[in-house]
Amino acid sequence: MDNKKKIIVAIDGFSSCGKSTFAKAIAAKLGYIFIDTGAMYRAVTLYALENGAIVDGELNQELLIGLLPKIEISFAFNAERGASDIYVNGELAEDKIRTIEVSNCVSKVSQIRQVREKLVALQQQMGQHRGVVMDGRDIATVVFPDAELKLFMTADARVRAERRYAELKAKGDEVTFDEVLDNVISRDNADVNREISPLRRADDAIELDNSYMSVEEQMAWFMERYQQIVG
Ligand code: DC
Repeated sequence: MDNKKKIIVAIDGFSSCGKSTFAKAIAAKLGYIFIDTGAMYRAVTLYALENGAIVDGELNQELLIGLLPKIEISFAFNAERGASDIYVNGELAEDKIRTIEVSNCVSKVSQIRQVREKLVALQQQMGQHRGVVMDGRDIATVVFPDAELKLFMTADARVRAERRYAELKAKGDEVTFDEVLDNVISRDNADVNREISPLRRADDAIELDNSYMSVEEQMAWFMERYQQIVG
């Protein structure tokens, strides 16, 4: 793989579509760096919750904007997980960002222009040498409109909620299926309807509906497209 040109693989799509699982598998296969941009929006949300900028689900936008320069996000590779863990101001935050509380507040945080500007700049810096697989909502449209390979992932909302519910239950979270389904649907709406960088398929992105596909099937589908570009 070393003598091949390195590209950017941009993966956008709805929440709980398995984007990160797929992106991680692609990165491992190609020897690329995997960057989960959703984790970055979740990290800012966690910081907002822990520092009084979100109280009882209400976001104090001014306060959060004032806190932004104090938030330092970094990643460090975790060999056991085969992916990078996210750190907020040097503190491991990988588990804390995946709770239903963070999921319920992240849409409010991710629609703030200053938050997006900060995170997009960081994402562009991380991908400057290419050789990355980045997943999110605006990767092909805003972060890397020049990405060589753009995928747009979708799956049925109930299938997605079932996957997320199983994940949360396995971790011991006390959630109901309806709560998770509501969260998936309301985040879809927020992602599609927000004013800044709404979720949409880039004109040159290839759509992948993985409702009933295994990761292996998705990988075979992907490698065919990758070979066409890289040769
Ligand atoms: O991929 P995820 O579900 O972990 O993302 C968490 C939230 O962050 C999601 O509800 C939308 C937002 N997000 C975004 O606005 N832009 C991105 N590039 C990635 C995520």
